[in-house]
Amino acid sequence: MTNSAPIPAPTDPTRTPAWAHLDQLAEDFYPDLRHWFEADPQRARTWSFTAADLWVDLSKNLIDQEIVAALLELARETGVEEHRDRMFRGDRINVTENRAVLHTALRRPAGDVVEVDGANVVPDVHEVLNRMYDFADRVRSGQVTGISGKKLTSIVNIGIGGSDLGPVMVYEALRPYVDPELSCEFISNIDPNDAGEVVSRLDPETTLVIVTSKTFTTLETLTNARVVREWLLRSLRERGLVTDDANAAEAVERHFVAVSTALDRVAEFGIDPANAFGFWDWVGGRYSVDSAVGLSLAIALGPENFRDLLAGFHAMDQHFQNAPAAENVPLLMGLINVWYTGFLGADTHAVLPYSQYLHRFPAYLQQLTMESNGKSVRWDGSPVSYDTGEVFWGEPGTNGQHAFYQLIHQGTRLVPADFIAFANPTHDFRDGDNDMHELFLSNFFAQTKALAFGKTIDEVRAEGTPETIAPARVFGGNRPTTSIMGDRLNPRALGELIALYEHITFVQGAVWGIDSFDQWGVELGKVLAQQILPAVAGNKEVLAEQDPSTRSLIEYYREHRRH
Ligand code: F6P
Repeated sequence: MTNSAPIPAPTDPTRTPAWAHLDQLAEDFYPDLRHWFEADPQRARTWSFTAADLWVDLSKNLIDQEIVAALLELARETGVEEHRDRMFRGDRINVTENRAVLHTALRRPAGDVVEVDGANVVPDVHEVLNRMYDFADRVRSGQVTGISGKKLTSIVNIGIGGSDLGPVMVYEALRPYVDPELSCEFISNIDPNDAGEVVSRLDPETTLVIVTSKTFTTLETLTNARVVREWLLRSLRERGLVTDDANAAEAVERHFVAVSTALDRVAEFGIDPANAFGFWDWVGGRYSVDSAVGLSLAIALGPENFRDLLAGFHAMDQHFQNAPAAENVPLLMGLINVWYTGFLGADTHAVLPYSQYLHRFPAYLQQLTMESNGKSVRWDGSPVSYDTGEVFWGEPGTNGQHAFYQLIHQGTRLVPADFIAFANPTHDFRDGDNDMHELFLSNFFAQTKALAFGKTIDEVRAEGTPETIAPARVFGGNRPTTSIMGDRLNPRALGELIALYEHITFVQGAVWGIDSFDQWGVELGKVLAQQILPAVAGNKEVLAEQDPSTRSLIEYYREHRRH
């Protein structure tokens, strides 16, 4: 099978018989989870699935057999499975950038074959992984040192978007697996306060900087990298460790490495390409944490844990590739999201991890899902006539319960929510007779129960609630949730979880016929920032070219800025 075949034009999903059927089902739709569970004692069993090592309960969603059959028909009529197969075999499904989409090749076992333009990419993937593991081992053992001979113990990743969010999220999620002698710091924002705060915590002699940028052109990352290089050299000079250009170059060589697809630009920046770790244009930034972009993680967690993370990704890939459609969890979850956004009017989707370690997971998912599926045209340029990517958001439970759950329980909007929890905590505490993790998970179980089944006015009255305030205490129920559970949050489970959401995102994009792998929507602002910079710095002519609002904002800034 060749992977250079042109990608067929996307199907307009609204013109399929399945879409018409779903429209009709939505018209007469009166969800009643209480009744559905009473009428069908097998409902929980019917709609619970194993995906790799995760247990996923879809039963509290607003679905029944007929709806899911129609959604699976929609997937067939829009060619989701064919498109999935194109992705896995390396077809150029990123049409607007004419690129293959092969993040799944990053976690393939060494013997696998995936060809791009006739060449097997899997050996290249493992060549880079082996270099990463070797480097990680040498940093961890102290064989690689800074200019004064001290072990490098603070690993600073400078990157933004996909070159930051993945490493930060995984680092936070897997903190118990971090070598206690090492720590990671992350600089992403071009706000000078970000770099300023981080370097104030660092000892330059023990700092290893990883400049991570797929393109190595990103303004934020290159600015931060130059600023940190300047700080490092200045600090080492003050300590008498850098005295001339020759050992300044040596200091950069020992304290800076790079991760990029553009090794020529890495060299221009002054980092020896021998200290660079590559990846490929067929890895999207938001799909890259499992590439060399994860170098900080390979160092902090160690190669074994990084391998387990990749094995988790691969296990979910296999589930997505091989599980029958009716049991294929990413397929079902993606289709159910299409049902909520396209037919029931949901604009947002909450992701609520009952794991403090996953506190950056919703932020990570925002880039994954919204940069992928926030599109208004299909991959052939034709406009869509339906809603695409919903707004993903969330916070860890139970903190969210005391903040925004009110709206999810009793507000006027439909907010489908994914609840994520693990059976085993890392830290075991007891509060008197209570196991703290059980207190915690009781909330996880209680919330989806309350959202699904609510509390009727009769139940409120039966508690003796005065009639005047009874309506305010009613919970309508029928608020849809998916519960995802695992044994323990370890590297493998995290890899599975990330890949699950990658594939959910893929399924939604495939139904909508959009290119989930480009991100043209971020370009205009970047270009304008460059054009506006002279005005911000005082150039009156460039200021005069601006629209009245932008001009007055810049004027306010210039009046108030004190240097
Ligand atoms: O601005 C968006 C974006 O292109 C993301 O897609 C990407 O993850 C991020 O910028 C960083 O890009 P790079 O890794 O090339 O610095």
